[in-house]
Amino acid sequence: MDKDSIIQTLIAQLKPIFENDSSGHDWFHIERVWKLAKQIAVKENANIFIVELGALLHDIADHKFVENFETESTQRTTKILSQFNEISQQEIEAVIHIVLNCSYKGGVETNKMNSIEGKIVQDADKLDAIGAIGVARTFAFGGKFGSLLYHPDIKPMTHKDLDSYHKNRSHTINHFYEKLLKLKELIHTSTAKEIAKERHEFMELFLKQFYKEWEGEF
Ligand code: ADP
Ligand code: NI
Repeated sequence: MDKDSIIQTLIAQLKPIFENDSSGHDWFHIERVWKLAKQIAVKENANIFIVELGALLHDIADHKFVENFETESTQRTTKILSQFNEISQQEIEAVIHIVLNCSYKGGVETNKMNSIEGKIVQDADKLDAIGAIGVARTFAFGGKFGSLLYHPDIKPMTHKDLDSYHKNRSHTINHFYEKLLKLKELIHTSTAKEIAKERHEFMELFLKQFYKEWEGEF
């Protein structure tokens, strides 16, 4: 099987798994990250196949919802990729490294992503968390978990560990300060940094307009 057919087979298998997710990782998120990561990989001269596999599998287990994130991620990735004889053990390990280290996790853990391919997938994932799509995803997530849009008395907080990040969900506007506005600085590649600029500015504009309307100004 050639690489394109592997990717297409994988897509057909992953689509149904993510199709009904409404917690921010639906299939279209995976598809957008995959498309963006591929383009960044071309510009950054990375191994496109590894980037594609990493992008398609980066959310195969969610640290917010599975008990043992590392074991689940490793097992699921290994199982899915081992069906293809053409994919080597070394390639599987490269993808596992991406899947294990992609997530932001409240910014409380130091980033251990050490391959350019992983950095690209992580950048594409972050780009999909900011900008207009980022705003939409964040309010969709907040709605699903019953958060208020905003509460002027509840200020953003910094989390000291992953447990605190998981347990303390405040209103959705706080998520911009606790995560979204910080992402621009965590982007690795210059290609993604360039894309992040416009998306970051859009979020700032969104917040400005939000507060203006909140106060009844026009
Ligand atoms: P990561 O995969 O980097 O760990 P998450 O899975 O925590 O990111 O978040 C995926 C998306 O879900 C975020 O980009 C955001 O839009 C939304 N999200 C996550 N946590 C929250 C939250 N506490 N409030 C609002 N939206 C959230
Ligand atoms: Ni993702």
